[in-house]
Amino acid sequence: MQVGIDMGIVSGGDPAKLDIEELLATRLLVQGNSGSGKSHLLRRLLEQSAQWVQQVVIDPEGDFVTLSDRFGHVVVDGERTEAELAGIANRIRQHRVSCVLTLEGLDLEEQMRAAAAFLNGMFDADREFWYPVLVVVDEAQMFAPSVGGDVSEDARKLSLGAMTNLMCRGRKRGLAGVIATQRLAKLAKNVAAEASNFLMGRTFLDIDMARAADLLGMDRRQAEMFRDLKRGNFVALGPALSRRPLPIVIGAVETSARSSSPKLMPLPDAPQDVEDLIFTPDPEEFTRPIVVRRATPALRPTTDILAELSRSMPAATSAPQEPRAAQQEISPEEREERLSAVLSEILDDPQSGYRTDSVLYQDFLVRARMRRLPGPPLSLSEFRRRAAIARSGVDAETAAGEAWATAVSLSAGVSDDLQGVFLMIAKAAIAGDPCPSDARIARAYGTHSARRARRLLGYFEEQGLIVVHTDFSGKRVVAFPDLQAETAPGNADAADEGEARAAAE
Ligand SMILES: Nc1ncnc2c1ncn2[C@@H]1O[C@H](COP(=O)(O)OP(=O)(O)O)[C@@H](O)[C@H]1O
Ligand SMILES: [Mg+2]
Repeated sequence: MQVGIDMGIVSGGDPAKLDIEELLATRLLVQGNSGSGKSHLLRRLLEQSAQWVQQVVIDPEGDFVTLSDRFGHVVVDGERTEAELAGIANRIRQHRVSCVLTLEGLDLEEQMRAAAAFLNGMFDADREFWYPVLVVVDEAQMFAPSVGGDVSEDARKLSLGAMTNLMCRGRKRGLAGVIATQRLAKLAKNVAAEASNFLMGRTFLDIDMARAADLLGMDRRQAEMFRDLKRGNFVALGPALSRRPLPIVIGAVETSARSSSPKLMPLPDAPQDVEDLIFTPDPEEFTRPIVVRRATPALRPTTDILAELSRSMPAATSAPQEPRAAQQEISPEEREERLSAVLSEILDDPQSGYRTDSVLYQDFLVRARMRRLPGPPLSLSEFRRRAAIARSGVDAETAAGEAWATAVSLSAGVSDDLQGVFLMIAKAAIAGDPCPSDARIARAYGTHSARRARRLLGYFEEQGLIVVHTDFSGKRVVAFPDLQAETAPGNADAADEGEARAAAE
Protein backbone atom coordinates (compact mmCIF):
# COMPACT_ATOMS: atom_id res chain seq x y z
CA MET A 1 0.00 0.00 0.00
CA GLN A 2 1.43 3.34 -0.92
CA VAL A 3 0.29 6.26 1.17
CA GLY A 4 1.51 9.72 0.33
CA ILE A 5 0.73 12.13 3.09
CA ASP A 6 0.61 15.83 2.48
CA MET A 7 3.25 17.86 4.31
CA GLY A 8 2.46 21.24 2.74
CA ILE A 9 3.29 22.78 -0.62
CA VAL A 10 6.29 22.98 -2.91
CA SER A 11 7.20 26.34 -4.38
CA GLY A 12 5.05 25.85 -7.51
CA GLY A 13 1.98 25.26 -5.32
CA ASP A 14 1.81 21.48 -5.73
CA PRO A 15 1.36 19.38 -2.61
CA ALA A 16 4.57 18.25 -0.92
CA LYS A 17 4.18 14.49 -0.53
CA LEU A 18 5.82 12.19 1.93
CA ASP A 19 5.65 8.47 1.21
CA ILE A 20 4.93 6.85 4.56
CA GLU A 21 5.81 3.31 3.60
CA GLU A 22 9.14 4.43 2.22
CA LEU A 23 9.69 6.52 5.34
CA LEU A 24 9.26 3.41 7.51
CA ALA A 25 12.20 1.85 5.73
CA THR A 26 14.42 4.88 5.37
CA ARG A 27 13.87 7.12 8.43
CA LEU A 28 13.96 10.91 8.64
CA LEU A 29 16.18 13.59 10.11
CA VAL A 30 14.82 17.10 10.62
CA GLN A 31 17.27 19.85 11.40
CA GLY A 32 16.81 23.57 11.93
CA ASN A 33 17.68 26.15 14.54
CA SER A 34 15.33 26.86 17.37
CA GLY A 35 12.18 28.52 16.05
CA SER A 36 12.64 27.25 12.50
CA GLY A 37 9.46 25.19 12.78
CA LYS A 38 10.68 21.64 13.50
CA SER A 39 8.14 20.79 16.15
CA HIS A 40 5.41 22.20 13.93
CA LEU A 41 6.69 20.01 11.10
CA LEU A 42 6.68 16.92 13.32
CA ARG A 43 3.14 17.72 14.39
CA ARG A 44 2.05 18.03 10.77
CA LEU A 45 3.65 14.68 10.00
CA LEU A 46 2.03 13.03 13.03
CA GLU A 47 -1.41 14.44 12.33
CA GLN A 48 -1.36 13.53 8.67
CA SER A 49 -0.15 9.99 9.26
CA ALA A 50 -2.06 9.22 12.47
CA GLN A 51 -4.63 7.12 10.67
CA TRP A 52 -2.05 5.10 8.77
CA VAL A 53 0.56 4.07 11.26
CA GLN A 54 1.11 3.62 14.97
CA GLN A 55 3.08 6.48 16.48
CA VAL A 56 5.24 6.98 19.51
CA VAL A 57 6.52 10.45 20.38
CA ILE A 58 9.44 11.03 22.74
CA ASP A 59 8.54 14.51 23.87
CA PRO A 60 10.98 16.40 26.11
CA GLU A 61 8.72 19.44 26.52
CA GLY A 62 5.32 17.81 26.82
CA ASP A 63 4.31 19.66 23.65
CA PHE A 64 2.65 16.77 21.89
CA VAL A 65 0.24 15.67 24.61
CA THR A 66 -2.43 17.64 22.74
CA LEU A 67 -2.48 14.85 20.15
CA SER A 68 -4.36 12.78 22.65
CA ASP A 69 -7.70 14.62 22.43
CA ARG A 70 -7.91 14.63 18.68
CA PHE A 71 -6.11 11.42 17.77
CA GLY A 72 -6.33 9.30 20.89
CA HIS A 73 -2.64 9.06 21.76
CA VAL A 74 -2.15 7.73 25.26
CA VAL A 75 -0.07 10.14 27.30
CA VAL A 76 2.63 8.40 29.31
CA ASP A 77 4.26 10.49 31.99
CA GLY A 78 7.99 9.77 32.10
CA GLU A 79 8.12 10.13 35.87
CA ARG A 80 8.18 6.40 36.52
CA THR A 81 10.67 3.69 37.29
CA GLU A 82 12.63 2.36 34.38
CA ALA A 83 11.05 -1.06 34.84
CA GLU A 84 7.61 0.44 34.67
CA LEU A 85 8.45 2.38 31.50
CA ALA A 86 9.85 -0.72 29.85
CA GLY A 87 6.66 -2.62 30.71
CA ILE A 88 4.46 0.15 29.30
CA ALA A 89 6.55 0.35 26.13
CA ASN A 90 6.14 -3.35 25.68
CA ARG A 91 2.37 -3.16 26.03
CA ILE A 92 2.27 -0.16 23.69
CA ARG A 93 3.67 -2.43 21.00
CA GLN A 94 1.52 -5.37 21.93
CA HIS A 95 -1.70 -3.39 21.75
CA ARG A 96 -0.53 -1.11 18.92
CA VAL A 97 -1.59 2.04 20.71
CA SER A 98 -0.11 5.39 19.71
CA CYS A 99 1.38 7.29 22.58
CA VAL A 100 3.28 10.36 23.72
CA LEU A 101 5.99 9.88 26.32
CA THR A 102 6.18 13.27 28.01
CA LEU A 103 9.41 14.02 29.84
CA GLU A 104 8.41 17.47 30.94
CA GLY A 105 9.53 18.30 34.44
CA LEU A 106 12.28 15.69 34.62
CA ASP A 107 15.89 16.78 34.79
CA LEU A 108 18.10 16.03 31.82
CA GLU A 109 19.55 12.84 33.21
CA GLU A 110 16.12 11.52 34.19
CA GLN A 111 14.83 12.39 30.72
CA MET A 112 17.63 10.41 29.14
CA ARG A 113 17.07 7.42 31.38
CA ALA A 114 13.32 7.46 30.85
CA ALA A 115 13.64 7.77 27.06
CA ALA A 116 16.19 4.97 27.02
CA ALA A 117 14.03 2.64 29.11
CA PHE A 118 11.05 3.32 26.87
CA LEU A 119 12.91 2.94 23.58
CA ASN A 120 14.59 -0.23 24.77
CA GLY A 121 11.25 -1.59 25.95
CA MET A 122 9.88 -1.13 22.43
CA PHE A 123 13.02 -2.51 20.88
CA ASP A 124 12.82 -5.64 23.04
CA ALA A 125 9.22 -6.44 22.15
CA ASP A 126 8.55 -10.02 21.10
CA ARG A 127 8.89 -10.75 17.42
CA GLU A 128 5.14 -11.28 17.04
CA PHE A 129 4.63 -7.59 17.89
CA TRP A 130 7.05 -6.14 15.40
CA TYR A 131 4.42 -4.00 13.69
CA PRO A 132 5.56 -0.76 12.12
CA VAL A 133 5.76 2.23 14.45
CA LEU A 134 6.88 5.75 13.68
CA VAL A 135 9.10 6.75 16.58
CA VAL A 136 9.38 10.52 16.66
CA VAL A 137 12.08 12.03 18.86
CA ASP A 138 12.09 15.82 19.19
CA GLU A 139 15.31 17.51 20.35
CA ALA A 140 17.17 14.32 19.54
CA GLN A 141 20.57 15.86 20.35
CA MET A 142 19.55 15.60 24.02
CA PHE A 143 19.22 11.83 23.78
CA ALA A 144 22.08 11.15 21.39
CA PRO A 145 24.66 13.80 22.23
CA SER A 146 27.85 13.82 20.17
CA VAL A 147 29.99 14.53 23.21
CA GLY A 148 29.66 13.73 26.90
CA GLY A 149 29.79 16.18 29.75
CA ASP A 150 26.41 17.37 30.93
CA VAL A 151 25.26 14.15 32.55
CA SER A 152 26.72 10.99 34.03
CA GLU A 153 28.54 8.74 31.62
CA ASP A 154 26.18 5.92 32.51
CA ALA A 155 23.07 7.89 31.52
CA ARG A 156 24.70 9.10 28.32
CA LYS A 157 25.68 5.60 27.24
CA LEU A 158 22.25 4.24 28.06
CA SER A 159 20.43 6.90 26.09
CA LEU A 160 22.84 6.93 23.18
CA GLY A 161 22.64 3.15 23.02
CA ALA A 162 18.86 3.26 22.83
CA MET A 163 18.93 5.91 20.09
CA THR A 164 21.52 3.93 18.16
CA ASN A 165 19.31 0.85 18.41
CA LEU A 166 16.36 2.85 17.17
CA MET A 167 18.14 4.35 14.17
CA CYS A 168 20.56 1.57 13.26
CA ARG A 169 18.85 -1.66 14.24
CA GLY A 170 15.21 -0.69 14.60
CA ARG A 171 14.08 -1.22 11.04
CA LYS A 172 13.85 -5.00 11.20
CA ARG A 173 11.74 -4.65 14.34
CA GLY A 174 9.35 -2.24 12.69
CA LEU A 175 10.73 0.86 14.42
CA ALA A 176 11.11 3.82 12.09
CA GLY A 177 12.99 6.74 13.63
CA VAL A 178 12.01 10.31 12.87
CA ILE A 179 14.36 12.61 14.73
CA ALA A 180 14.58 16.38 14.95
CA THR A 181 17.53 18.42 16.14
CA GLN A 182 18.35 22.09 16.41
CA ARG A 183 22.10 21.49 16.33
CA LEU A 184 23.27 18.87 13.91
CA ALA A 185 26.82 19.20 15.22
CA LYS A 186 25.60 18.19 18.67
CA LEU A 187 23.90 15.03 17.45
CA ALA A 188 25.92 11.81 17.50
CA LYS A 189 27.14 11.11 13.98
CA ASN A 190 26.15 7.46 13.81
CA VAL A 191 22.57 8.32 14.80
CA ALA A 192 22.27 11.06 12.17
CA ALA A 193 23.91 8.95 9.49
CA GLU A 194 21.20 6.29 9.48
CA ALA A 195 18.49 8.59 8.17
CA SER A 196 18.11 8.66 4.40
CA ASN A 197 15.51 11.42 4.34
CA PHE A 198 16.17 14.99 5.36
CA LEU A 199 14.17 18.09 5.98
CA MET A 200 16.55 20.97 6.51
CA GLY A 201 15.33 24.23 7.96
CA ARG A 202 17.05 27.48 8.79
CA THR A 203 20.59 26.85 9.97
CA PHE A 204 23.00 29.61 10.78
CA LEU A 205 26.03 28.11 12.42
CA ASP A 206 28.77 27.15 9.96
CA ILE A 207 29.53 23.94 11.77
CA ASP A 208 25.91 22.73 11.48
CA MET A 209 25.80 23.79 7.85
CA ALA A 210 28.96 21.83 7.12
CA ARG A 211 27.51 18.73 8.77
CA ALA A 212 24.28 19.14 6.81
CA ALA A 213 26.16 19.48 3.54
CA ASP A 214 28.15 16.33 4.29
CA LEU A 215 25.05 14.33 5.16
CA LEU A 216 23.16 15.46 2.09
CA GLY A 217 26.13 15.06 -0.20
CA MET A 218 26.00 18.72 -1.21
CA ASP A 219 28.94 21.02 -1.53
CA ARG A 220 29.19 23.55 1.22
CA ARG A 221 28.38 26.54 -0.92
CA GLN A 222 25.14 24.93 -1.99
CA ALA A 223 24.28 24.40 1.66
CA GLU A 224 24.36 28.17 2.16
CA MET A 225 20.73 28.09 1.08
CA PHE A 226 19.76 26.78 4.51
CA ARG A 227 20.91 30.03 6.07
CA ASP A 228 18.09 32.19 4.76
CA LEU A 229 15.16 29.82 5.11
CA LYS A 230 12.09 31.32 6.74
CA ARG A 231 10.19 29.69 9.58
CA GLY A 232 8.22 26.73 8.26
CA ASN A 233 10.37 26.47 5.11
CA PHE A 234 12.46 23.33 4.69
CA VAL A 235 14.51 21.69 1.98
CA ALA A 236 13.41 18.10 1.43
CA LEU A 237 15.61 15.31 0.15
CA GLY A 238 15.46 11.52 0.24
CA PRO A 239 13.64 8.48 -1.13
CA ALA A 240 10.42 9.22 0.78
CA LEU A 241 10.45 12.90 -0.20
CA SER A 242 12.26 13.96 -3.34
CA ARG A 243 15.22 12.85 -5.44
CA ARG A 244 16.59 16.36 -5.61
CA PRO A 245 16.71 19.04 -2.91
CA LEU A 246 13.21 20.46 -2.96
CA PRO A 247 12.13 23.59 -1.04
CA ILE A 248 8.79 23.10 0.66
CA VAL A 249 6.55 25.08 3.00
CA ILE A 250 5.03 23.07 5.81
CA GLY A 251 1.25 23.31 6.00
CA ALA A 252 -1.06 24.09 8.89
CA VAL A 253 -1.75 21.80 11.85
CA GLU A 254 -5.03 20.86 13.51
CA THR A 255 -3.88 20.56 17.09
CA SER A 256 -1.89 23.21 18.87
CA ALA A 257 1.32 23.00 20.81
CA ARG A 258 0.36 23.07 24.42
CA SER A 259 0.99 26.51 25.82
CA SER A 260 3.94 26.54 28.13
CA SER A 261 2.06 28.20 30.98
CA PRO A 262 1.00 25.49 33.40
CA LYS A 263 -2.53 24.26 32.81
CA LEU A 264 -4.80 22.86 35.44
CA MET A 265 -4.56 19.38 33.93
CA PRO A 266 -5.59 17.57 30.83
CA LEU A 267 -9.09 16.19 31.27
CA PRO A 268 -9.25 13.49 28.66
CA ASP A 269 -12.55 12.14 27.38
CA ALA A 270 -10.67 9.12 26.10
CA PRO A 271 -12.11 5.88 27.40
CA GLN A 272 -10.40 4.95 30.63
CA ASP A 273 -10.04 1.36 29.57
CA VAL A 274 -7.31 2.27 27.09
CA GLU A 275 -5.18 3.47 29.98
CA ASP A 276 -6.02 0.43 32.02
CA LEU A 277 -4.96 -1.71 29.14
CA ILE A 278 -1.58 -0.02 28.99
CA PHE A 279 -0.76 0.59 32.63
CA THR A 280 -2.06 -2.51 34.35
CA PRO A 281 0.55 -5.26 34.33
CA ASP A 282 -0.42 -8.74 33.19
CA PRO A 283 -0.78 -11.18 36.06
CA GLU A 284 2.19 -13.06 34.62
CA GLU A 285 4.39 -10.00 34.52
CA PHE A 286 3.22 -9.19 38.00
CA THR A 287 4.78 -12.34 39.39
CA ARG A 288 8.14 -12.13 37.67
CA PRO A 289 10.63 -9.32 38.12
CA ILE A 290 11.24 -7.10 35.12
CA VAL A 291 14.82 -7.07 33.99
CA VAL A 292 16.09 -3.53 33.65
CA ARG A 293 18.63 -2.88 30.97
CA ARG A 294 21.65 -0.96 32.18
CA ALA A 295 24.56 0.37 30.29
CA THR A 296 27.30 -2.21 30.02
CA PRO A 297 29.13 -2.09 33.33
CA ALA A 298 32.69 -0.90 33.30
CA LEU A 299 35.25 -3.67 33.12
CA ARG A 300 36.24 -4.89 36.55
CA PRO A 301 39.87 -4.87 37.53
CA THR A 302 41.39 -8.32 37.16
CA THR A 303 42.47 -8.27 40.80
CA ASP A 304 38.80 -8.17 41.86
CA ILE A 305 37.97 -11.13 39.72
CA LEU A 306 40.97 -13.08 40.98
CA ALA A 307 40.01 -12.32 44.56
CA GLU A 308 36.55 -13.57 43.90
CA LEU A 309 37.75 -16.73 42.23
CA SER A 310 40.02 -17.53 45.14
CA ARG A 311 37.20 -17.42 47.64
CA SER A 312 35.96 -20.84 48.65
CA MET A 313 32.35 -19.96 47.83
CA PRO A 314 32.32 -17.62 44.86
CA ALA A 315 29.70 -14.92 45.24
CA ALA A 316 28.59 -15.28 41.66
CA THR A 317 27.44 -18.87 42.05
CA SER A 318 25.17 -18.71 45.04
CA ALA A 319 23.36 -21.79 46.26
CA PRO A 320 20.55 -22.99 44.03
CA GLN A 321 17.36 -21.12 44.77
CA GLU A 322 14.77 -22.72 46.95
CA PRO A 323 11.80 -23.54 44.79
CA ARG A 324 9.31 -20.75 45.34
CA ALA A 325 6.40 -21.71 47.52
CA ALA A 326 3.44 -22.18 45.23
CA GLN A 327 1.02 -19.31 45.59
CA GLN A 328 -1.48 -20.41 48.12
CA GLU A 329 -5.21 -20.06 47.68
CA ILE A 330 -6.87 -17.64 50.06
CA SER A 331 -10.47 -16.70 50.66
CA PRO A 332 -11.87 -13.50 49.12
CA GLU A 333 -12.20 -12.02 52.60
CA GLU A 334 -8.61 -12.69 53.41
CA ARG A 335 -7.50 -11.30 50.08
CA GLU A 336 -9.54 -8.18 50.70
CA GLU A 337 -8.01 -7.84 54.14
CA ARG A 338 -4.47 -8.08 52.80
CA LEU A 339 -5.30 -5.68 50.02
CA SER A 340 -6.63 -3.11 52.48
CA ALA A 341 -3.57 -3.57 54.66
CA VAL A 342 -1.27 -2.86 51.73
CA LEU A 343 -3.34 0.14 50.69
CA SER A 344 -3.31 1.68 54.13
CA GLU A 345 0.40 1.04 54.51
CA ILE A 346 0.93 3.26 51.51
CA LEU A 347 -1.69 5.89 52.15
CA ASP A 348 -0.95 6.31 55.84
CA ASP A 349 2.45 7.68 54.97
CA PRO A 350 1.93 11.45 55.23
CA GLN A 351 4.28 12.00 52.29
CA SER A 352 2.08 9.88 50.07
CA GLY A 353 -0.11 12.92 49.42
CA TYR A 354 2.66 14.46 47.36
CA ARG A 355 3.37 11.48 45.17
CA THR A 356 1.50 10.92 41.95
CA ASP A 357 -0.99 8.08 41.82
CA SER A 358 1.12 6.23 39.32
CA VAL A 359 4.11 6.31 41.63
CA LEU A 360 1.96 5.08 44.51
CA TYR A 361 0.50 2.44 42.26
CA GLN A 362 3.97 1.18 41.45
CA ASP A 363 4.69 1.02 45.17
CA PHE A 364 1.43 -0.82 45.68
CA LEU A 365 2.32 -3.43 43.06
CA VAL A 366 5.67 -4.08 44.67
CA ARG A 367 4.21 -4.45 48.15
CA ALA A 368 1.38 -6.64 46.94
CA ARG A 369 3.95 -8.86 45.30
CA MET A 370 6.00 -8.99 48.49
CA ARG A 371 2.90 -10.01 50.42
CA ARG A 372 2.27 -12.70 47.80
CA LEU A 373 -1.18 -11.38 47.16
CA PRO A 374 -2.57 -13.98 44.76
CA GLY A 375 -4.68 -13.31 41.71
CA PRO A 376 -4.57 -10.41 39.27
CA PRO A 377 -3.49 -7.06 40.72
CA LEU A 378 -5.85 -4.11 40.96
CA SER A 379 -5.84 -2.05 37.79
CA LEU A 380 -4.59 1.52 38.02
CA SER A 381 -8.12 2.93 37.94
CA GLU A 382 -9.39 0.51 40.59
CA PHE A 383 -6.40 1.45 42.68
CA ARG A 384 -7.15 5.15 42.27
CA ARG A 385 -10.77 4.62 43.21
CA ARG A 386 -9.93 2.76 46.37
CA ALA A 387 -7.22 5.24 47.24
CA ALA A 388 -9.69 8.08 46.71
CA ILE A 389 -12.15 6.59 49.16
CA ALA A 390 -9.41 5.84 51.68
CA ARG A 391 -7.98 9.35 51.35
CA SER A 392 -11.29 11.08 51.88
CA GLY A 393 -10.97 9.92 55.48
CA VAL A 394 -14.54 8.70 55.56
CA ASP A 395 -15.57 6.99 58.77
CA ALA A 396 -17.64 3.82 58.88
CA GLU A 397 -20.84 5.59 59.88
CA THR A 398 -20.72 8.17 57.09
CA ALA A 399 -19.68 5.52 54.60
CA ALA A 400 -22.77 3.48 55.37
CA GLY A 401 -25.12 6.39 54.62
CA GLU A 402 -27.04 7.08 51.43
CA ALA A 403 -25.42 10.48 50.91
CA TRP A 404 -22.01 8.85 50.75
CA ALA A 405 -23.20 6.39 48.12
CA THR A 406 -24.41 9.37 46.07
CA ALA A 407 -21.08 11.14 46.55
CA VAL A 408 -19.20 8.08 45.34
CA SER A 409 -21.36 7.82 42.25
CA LEU A 410 -20.93 11.56 41.57
CA SER A 411 -17.19 11.13 41.88
CA ALA A 412 -17.26 8.67 39.01
CA GLY A 413 -18.06 11.68 36.82
CA VAL A 414 -14.70 13.35 37.42
CA SER A 415 -11.43 11.99 36.13
CA ASP A 416 -9.65 9.39 38.24
CA ASP A 417 -7.03 11.74 39.63
CA LEU A 418 -9.65 14.15 40.98
CA GLN A 419 -11.85 11.63 42.76
CA GLY A 420 -9.88 11.77 45.99
CA VAL A 421 -10.19 15.54 46.30
CA PHE A 422 -13.82 15.45 45.39
CA LEU A 423 -14.66 12.79 47.96
CA MET A 424 -12.67 14.53 50.67
CA ILE A 425 -14.72 17.71 50.28
CA ALA A 426 -17.96 15.74 49.92
CA LYS A 427 -17.18 13.95 53.14
CA ALA A 428 -16.75 17.28 54.93
CA ALA A 429 -20.12 18.38 53.59
CA ILE A 430 -21.91 15.20 54.62
CA ALA A 431 -20.36 15.27 58.08
CA GLY A 432 -20.92 19.06 58.41
CA ASP A 433 -17.20 19.62 58.98
CA PRO A 434 -15.53 22.93 58.06
CA CYS A 435 -14.55 23.33 54.42
CA PRO A 436 -10.97 22.11 53.95
CA SER A 437 -8.37 24.84 53.38
CA ASP A 438 -6.55 25.39 50.10
CA ALA A 439 -3.46 23.75 51.55
CA ARG A 440 -5.41 20.64 52.57
CA ILE A 441 -7.10 20.38 49.17
CA ALA A 442 -3.75 20.83 47.48
CA ARG A 443 -2.26 17.97 49.47
CA ALA A 444 -5.16 15.71 48.57
CA TYR A 445 -4.35 16.45 44.96
CA GLY A 446 -0.66 15.80 45.44
CA THR A 447 0.58 19.36 45.07
CA HIS A 448 1.75 22.22 47.26
CA SER A 449 0.07 24.85 45.14
CA ALA A 450 -2.88 26.68 46.73
CA ARG A 451 -3.69 28.19 43.36
CA ARG A 452 -4.18 24.76 41.93
CA ALA A 453 -6.50 23.90 44.79
CA ARG A 454 -8.67 26.91 43.99
CA ARG A 455 -8.66 26.00 40.32
CA LEU A 456 -9.86 22.54 41.22
CA LEU A 457 -12.81 24.00 43.09
CA GLY A 458 -13.47 26.22 40.08
CA TYR A 459 -13.45 23.17 37.88
CA PHE A 460 -15.90 21.22 40.07
CA GLU A 461 -18.11 24.28 40.09
CA GLU A 462 -18.03 24.51 36.29
CA GLN A 463 -19.10 20.88 36.16
CA GLY A 464 -22.13 21.76 38.27
CA LEU A 465 -20.99 19.47 41.07
CA ILE A 466 -20.54 22.10 43.74
CA VAL A 467 -21.39 25.71 44.57
CA VAL A 468 -18.75 27.72 46.41
CA HIS A 469 -19.70 30.72 48.49
CA THR A 470 -18.39 32.64 51.47
CA ASP A 471 -20.12 33.49 54.69
CA PHE A 472 -20.16 36.96 56.28
CA SER A 473 -16.84 36.49 58.00
CA GLY A 474 -15.20 35.57 54.68
CA LYS A 475 -14.97 31.86 55.37
CA ARG A 476 -15.56 29.42 52.55
CA VAL A 477 -18.52 27.08 52.24
CA VAL A 478 -18.85 24.38 49.60
CA ALA A 479 -22.36 23.17 48.87
CA PHE A 480 -23.23 19.97 47.00
CA PRO A 481 -26.67 20.41 45.41
CA ASP A 482 -26.99 16.68 44.67
CA LEU A 483 -26.21 15.75 48.25
CA GLN A 484 -28.31 18.51 49.73
CA ALA A 485 -25.43 19.15 52.05
CA GLU A 486 -22.80 21.79 52.56
CA THR A 487 -19.61 22.11 54.54
CA ALA A 488 -19.40 24.28 57.62
CA PRO A 489 -17.56 27.57 56.94
CA GLY A 490 -13.79 27.03 56.82
CA ASN A 491 -10.79 29.31 56.49
CA ALA A 492 -9.40 28.89 52.98
CA ASP A 493 -5.97 30.13 53.97
CA ALA A 494 -5.54 27.95 57.04
CA ALA A 495 -2.40 25.86 57.28
CA ASP A 496 -2.70 22.15 56.71
CA GLU A 497 -2.07 20.15 59.86
CA GLY A 498 -1.33 16.99 57.93
CA GLU A 499 1.37 18.82 56.06
CA ALA A 500 2.92 20.09 59.27
CA ARG A 501 2.92 16.51 60.49
CA ALA A 502 4.52 15.30 57.26
CA ALA A 503 7.18 17.98 57.49
CA ALA A 504 7.94 17.12 61.10
CA GLU A 505 8.58 13.46 60.29
N1 LIG B 1 4.75 26.05 8.89
C1 LIG B 1 4.32 26.83 9.87
N2 LIG B 1 3.18 27.52 9.74
C2 LIG B 1 2.74 28.30 10.74
N3 LIG B 1 3.36 28.48 11.92
C3 LIG B 1 4.51 27.83 12.11
C4 LIG B 1 5.05 26.98 11.10
N4 LIG B 1 6.18 26.46 11.58
C5 LIG B 1 6.35 26.97 12.81
N5 LIG B 1 5.36 27.80 13.13
C6 LIG B 1 5.23 28.52 14.41
O1 LIG B 1 6.49 29.07 14.74
C7 LIG B 1 6.80 28.87 16.11
C8 LIG B 1 8.09 28.08 16.28
O2 LIG B 1 7.93 26.80 15.69
P1 LIG B 1 8.42 25.45 16.37
O3 LIG B 1 7.89 24.36 15.54
O4 LIG B 1 8.13 25.43 17.80
O5 LIG B 1 10.00 25.62 16.16
P2 LIG B 1 11.19 24.68 16.63
O6 LIG B 1 10.61 23.41 17.12
O7 LIG B 1 12.03 24.49 15.42
O8 LIG B 1 11.92 25.44 17.69
C9 LIG B 1 5.61 28.17 16.71
O9 LIG B 1 4.79 29.10 17.34
C10 LIG B 1 4.91 27.55 15.52
O10 LIG B 1 3.53 27.45 15.73
MG1 LIG C 1 10.70 22.51 18.96
